Amino acid sequence: MAGKIPRDFIDDLLTRVDIVDVVNRYVPLKKAGKEFQACCPFHGEKTPSFTVSQQKQFYHCFGCGAHGSAISFLMEYDHMGFVDAVEELAHQMGVEVPREEGFSTGPDLRPLYDVMQRSVDFYRQQLRNRPRADLAINYLKQRGLSGEIAARFDIGFAPPGWDGLIKSVGAKEQDLKRLRITGMTSDPDGKCYDRFRERIMFPLRDQRGRTIAFGARIIGDGKPKYLNSPETPLFHKGKELYGLYEVHKALRKIVRLLVVEGYMDVVSLAQYGIDYAVATLGTATTPDHLDRLFKTCSEVTFSFDGDRAGREAAWKAMNVALPMMRDGRELRFLLLPDGEDPDTLVRKEGKSQFEERVAAALPLSTFLFDQLASQVDTSTIDGRAHMGQLAKPLLERLPEGLFREMMFQRLNELVGLKRNPPKRVVRRVASGSSGTTKRVTPVRKAIALLMQYPELAQSLADVAHQEWRELEMLGIPLLVEIIDLLNQRPDLSAAALLERWRGRDEFSSLQRLQYYDIEIDQGHDSELLGVIGILQREWVRRHETSLLSKLSPSDMTDEEKASLIKQLSERAALQKKPGELE
Ligand code: UTP
Ligand code: MN
Repeated sequence: MAGKIPRDFIDDLLTRVDIVDVVNRYVPLKKAGKEFQACCPFHGEKTPSFTVSQQKQFYHCFGCGAHGSAISFLMEYDHMGFVDAVEELAHQMGVEVPREEGFSTGPDLRPLYDVMQRSVDFYRQQLRNRPRADLAINYLKQRGLSGEIAARFDIGFAPPGWDGLIKSVGAKEQDLKRLRITGMTSDPDGKCYDRFRERIMFPLRDQRGRTIAFGARIIGDGKPKYLNSPETPLFHKGKELYGLYEVHKALRKIVRLLVVEGYMDVVSLAQYGIDYAVATLGTATTPDHLDRLFKTCSEVTFSFDGDRAGREAAWKAMNVALPMMRDGRELRFLLLPDGEDPDTLVRKEGKSQFEERVAAALPLSTFLFDQLASQVDTSTIDGRAHMGQLAKPLLERLPEGLFREMMFQRLNELVGLKRNPPKRVVRRVASGSSGTTKRVTPVRKAIALLMQYPELAQSLADVAHQEWRELEMLGIPLLVEIIDLLNQRPDLSAAALLERWRGRDEFSSLQRLQYYDIEIDQGHDSELLGVIGILQREWVRRHETSLLSKLSPSDMTDEEKASLIKQLSERAALQKKPGELE
C-alpha cells in the first residue's frame, strides 16, 4: 500500500530546496540582477524570457506563461507525475519520502506494472530469437518498419505456444494471479494460457512510460486482426491514447496532435518524422480522450477514412467534442482518400505531402456546416430553414464564448437571416476571458499580493478589525485560507504556497495571480493593509444596512442596538467612502 505524501513534507522540501539548483541541472542559468535567466525550455526562443526567482522559489516565462515551483518544473520538463517529481526532488536532496500510515491511495499496483514490464522485455527478446522470429521480422520488414522505430515503440513478438510468457514471468501462484489480473493470460477451461500467441506486440504506455496494455497484430491475414488487452486495473480502454507517451518523449513542446485510428498509423507516421500522432485504438472517441488531448495541446486534428463509415465516425467525434470547444481550442477533421489510412498514405506520399493534408484539414465549423448543407437543398428557403433547425441544437451545445457566437453568426449568414449579434455575451467574453484583463477587485489584489509576497501575511496579525473575514463575497474564503495557512507556516516561499493548491479548482487562477502585474502606489504592506481596510469598510456598510433594515428598534436585541451605535460612530470616524466592489 502506498500512503499519501504528508503535506508538511512537501512544504519542507520546497522550503529547503533551491529552485535555481534544480533548474540549473537541466537548463544552464545566467544571473541577471536579482533573478536568473535562460532561454525558455518550454517554447522555442532566441532571447531569454524565462526567469527563475531565488527569493520566490518559482520560475516564470514571460513568453509562454510557464510558471511554477521546483516540483512543477520537473513535472513539465521531464513529463513526470506529481508523485514522481516529489520523489525525484527528495532524491536530489538525499531524503526519503515518508508516507502517511493508514492513509492509502489505493491498492498497490506496482507488482502489476512489474508483470507488464517483464512481458515487454520477454516479447522484445523473442523478436531477436532467430530463426523462430523470422516470420515476425519479415512481416515487419514487408510493412516497411525500421528496426530503429520498432525499438522506439518497444515492439515485440509473442511466440507461438501456450506458455512462453508464463514460463518467463513465473508459474508460481502469485505470478499466475498477476498475469491473470493484467490480462496477459486467459483461462477458458480453468487452465492458464498465454493470451497472445504468434502476434506482433505493441505495448501501450501511460504518461509515465509504464506499459499498461498490449495490442497484438496477427502476422498476415486472419481474425481477429488485432487482439487487445481486456480492461484491467491498469487499463481503461476508452481513456487511453496509443503513442501519447512517445509523443511526449519525442517533443519538448507539443503544439498539435494528430489522432489516427490504428497502431500501425502511429508507428509509420513516427518513422516518417511525423511524431505527433496518437491512436484511439479502434474505439469511438470519448470525452476522456478529448480531455486528455486538449490537456496536452490546444490544436487537435482527427483523421478518418474518407468513406461513409469514416465520415460518420468523424461526425460522432464532433458531437462528443462540441461541449468541450472552449475558446482557444481548435479541432479539425482530416478526411482521407478512399481506401487509404495514414500508414499507407505517408508511405506513398512522404512527410511533406502528408503534412500538407494535415494543414488543410477542415476546421470544425466548415466540417459541421458542410455536412449539414449536404443533407438539405440550400437553394430553397425551406431547405435553409431545415438546415437552421438541424444546426441549432448542435450549436447550443457549445460552451459560451466567442467561438459559439461566431458559429451562430455563420449559421445566420448561411440560412440568410439578419440577426443582431447578441451583444451581452460577446462583451462579457471580451472583458473576462483572458485572465489578465480581469478587473482587479480588492479581494483579487489581496490574494495576488499574498501569493507574490507571502511574508506580508505577518503585517495582518495586528489588524484590529477582522470582521471582513465573514463577508459573503467571491474569493473571501480563499483569501482567509491563504492568510491562515501563512500564519501557521510563515516560512513558505511563494512557490510552496502555490503548491498547496495543486489539484484544486483555484490552482490555475492562483498561478496567474502569482505573476499578475499589480499596480502599486505604496509599499507592498501598506497596499495590502489598504485593501483589507476596503473590505472591512464593506463589511461595516453591509452589516449596518442589515441592521437598519430591521423595522424598528424594538425588533432589535440589545446587543444589536449596541452594535449599531458603535458602528455609526465608527463610520463617522472613518468617513472615507468604501471602494468599489464587484
Ligand atoms: P484497422 O482495421 O483500420 O487496421 O483498425 P489498421 O490499423 O489499418 O491495421 P493494419 O494496417 O492492417 O495493421 C484500426 C484499429 O482498430 C483496432 C486496432 O487498434 C487497429 O489499429 N482494431 C482493429 C482492433 O482492436 N481489433 C481488430 O480486430 C481490428
Ligand atoms: Mn492500416
